[in-house]
Amino acid sequence: MTLDYPHLAQQIDALCHGETDTVALMATVVCELHHAHPLSDWTGFYRVTAPDLLKIGPYQGGHGCLVIPFSRGVCGAAARLGQPQLVPDVELFPGHIACASSTRSELVLPVWNGAGRLLGVLDLDSNTEAAFNDEDVQQLTAILAVVFRDAV
Ligand code: SME
Repeated sequence: MTLDYPHLAQQIDALCHGETDTVALMATVVCELHHAHPLSDWTGFYRVTAPDLLKIGPYQGGHGCLVIPFSRGVCGAAARLGQPQLVPDVELFPGHIACASSTRSELVLPVWNGAGRLLGVLDLDSNTEAAFNDEDVQQLTAILAVVFRDAV
């Protein structure tokens, strides 16, 4: 099963159109994406709540770590570097934070609003190795840019 990104983008746009509340948008994106992605076992946002600090936001899956400094893990790297982190094998990522020991691969994307403020990161974790690819990066980056453009 592959993910129909045009359909997902359309669905998210229909649900989120006109909404600017960041948490409401995150909750809706996570719900749609988690149920649509065949290999994501944990799908969630971490929010920037203080300088260099991420705190858990809306998510689906088992419980996640509550606090992640920018200096730690895959999420911290995405926030610190402002770059997507595509990690096919978490064992090979120095400093990876194992919230669930079953996690084998992950993808983390920075999330900005249209004014260029970093709102947080989107984290997808999978129990399957190399579950995510460049298409996920491209498509999700485009969806996030549209959804969070006017987020406050
Ligand atoms: N694996 C992430 C931590 C978040 S959880 O797995 C939900 C990381 O290393 O940033």
